[in-house]
Amino acid sequence: MEIDPELLDPSTRYKLLIGSVVPRPIAFVSSLSPEGVVNLAPFSYFNAVGHKPLALMFSVSRKPDGSDKDTLRNVRPRSEGGTGEYVINLAIASYAHQVAECAEPLPYGESEFDYVDLSTAPSRVVQPPRVAESPVAFECRTLQIVPVGEFSMVIGQVVHLFVRDDVLSENNRIDADKLGAIGRMAGYEYCHTGDRFEIPNGLPKPPSVS
Ligand SMILES: Cc1cc2nc3c(=O)[nH]c(=O)nc-3n(C[C@H](O)[C@H](O)[C@H](O)COP(=O)(O)O)c2cc1C
Repeated sequence: MEIDPELLDPSTRYKLLIGSVVPRPIAFVSSLSPEGVVNLAPFSYFNAVGHKPLALMFSVSRKPDGSDKDTLRNVRPRSEGGTGEYVINLAIASYAHQVAECAEPLPYGESEFDYVDLSTAPSRVVQPPRVAESPVAFECRTLQIVPVGEFSMVIGQVVHLFVRDDVLSENNRIDADKLGAIGRMAGYEYCHTGDRFEIPNGLPKPPSVS
């Protein structure tokens, strides 16, 4: 089937996208409103941007009424009504249910931390706290928010990194089994990251000419 995405209704486009771009890592973003309320929400339009500087992106749609989601409101720079800072925590198997629970919309000014079984720990450089249970946390400052139609791609620079000692193995490698990251598939499906295999880099040798 050959498809022109512009001829599809957005929900079909969405289904084809989230069923094909799999698995997606999940940013579990804690942010702070200017009034000091901590917000927590998952975003699977999420990935690394680069490591010089260390930068991450996630992309946010609008609320059904067209307004900004609470996270986007908070991560906007101070000049645009936000606080310009946030923490990207990981989504891991041991609190997968809490990740999904935090996708439930709450009125601005209410904190997901008051409802889910997760706790905060103070960040070192930014104001919003990290999720205490997350084995890795990236403290970020908003570098740029790029509008892409009805989405806003938030690019942030990591200004501090928390890595729990037990997930760090020799030579600064993260132990994937101890990390226990989960990924998002389509719909309500998630995946574990335990099924892995190795492929060495390099082209195959050319066939020998006799
Ligand atoms: C696993 C998962 C991934 C999600 N990914 C995104 C995403 O990439 N972008 C988005 O706008 N919403 C995403 N959502 C929905 C938001 O989490 C949801 O709209 C949430 O209420 C936003 O919270 P906020 O208004 O507190 O920022 C996702 C939900 C789940 C459960």
